[in-house]
Amino acid sequence: MAYAAGVDVGSTQTKAVIINEHKEIASRALTDTGANVIHAAEAAFEEALRNGDIREEEVEYVVGTGYGRYKVTFGNTQVTEISCHGRGAVHMFPGTRTVVDMGGQDTKAIRVSDSGEIVDFCMNDKCAAGTGRFLGAASTALEIDLPQLGPTALRGERAVKISTTCTVFAESEVLSWLGKGKKIEDILLGVHKSIAARSAGLLRRVGIEEEVTFTGGVAKNLAMIETLNERLGLEVNVSEDSHFMGALGAALFALDHILASRSPVRTAGGRS
Ligand SMILES: Nc1ncnc2c1ncn2[C@@H]1O[C@H](COP(=O)(O)OP(=O)(O)OP(=O)(O)O)[C@@H](O)[C@H]1O
Ligand SMILES: [Mg+2]
Repeated sequence: MAYAAGVDVGSTQTKAVIINEHKEIASRALTDTGANVIHAAEAAFEEALRNGDIREEEVEYVVGTGYGRYKVTFGNTQVTEISCHGRGAVHMFPGTRTVVDMGGQDTKAIRVSDSGEIVDFCMNDKCAAGTGRFLGAASTALEIDLPQLGPTALRGERAVKISTTCTVFAESEVLSWLGKGKKIEDILLGVHKSIAARSAGLLRRVGIEEEVTFTGGVAKNLAMIETLNERLGLEVNVSEDSHFMGALGAALFALDHILASRSPVRTAGGRS
């Protein structure tokens, strides 16, 4: 069995996915990107090999994606993360026409055609506003672990209105609301609502066409899913593998290369 791999080296976390020839996920791995980006790419790939009990020689083609895609030194080629998130999302949810990818640094809104091609995209460019880093700042300020942010926010009843859009000021605004006696749950609900509002604005710029698929690590956050659904007035698609969607898209591009290299070469006369 031949395998194809995608390695998505994000600003915050590095994801590796290995798929088989039937486009099924055979293995996945996740690691923090950290300072040594080349090492993170290798570590994620090696862990995915181990997790799937797959030998490196069995992986015929590797595509790197994400901001650190050129650091996937063992990769055969690179594809942008916009293309990879679009491809992965349409593969997992074929009805996808709009993708919202919330990662550690950026939020991206992507419009795709029914075949998964990119029609338009747009990303936030100010202070990493509306992203995982903003949530990270709130988590630090309130001393709540990242995975607990969503469940805590969902207990909120009266969302505090968060006015800052800049991560640098998020921590101080959150602390100032705490000082004014606001409940942690209500502050966090406000933080999620503010991110949902800004993400919806970004999505409107590319045009929101259903179905909408939510990708990236922030899709693990239940409050983000709920506040986004409420803001958009629809239900976004999310999967257990939403965090791996870019890596999955990259692996699908890698499989394209493997299959294309096997197909018979056509002659000028059209006969193969
Ligand atoms: N279990 C979890 N619960 C809640 N949030 C999580 C969880 N795991 C990851 N995240 C969020 O996901 C973010 C990382 O997502 P992702 O791996 O998609 O980012 P990235 O690809 O490194 O960043 P970018 O695409 O902006 O370069 C973290 O910053 C964190 O906010
Ligand atoms: Mg990413």
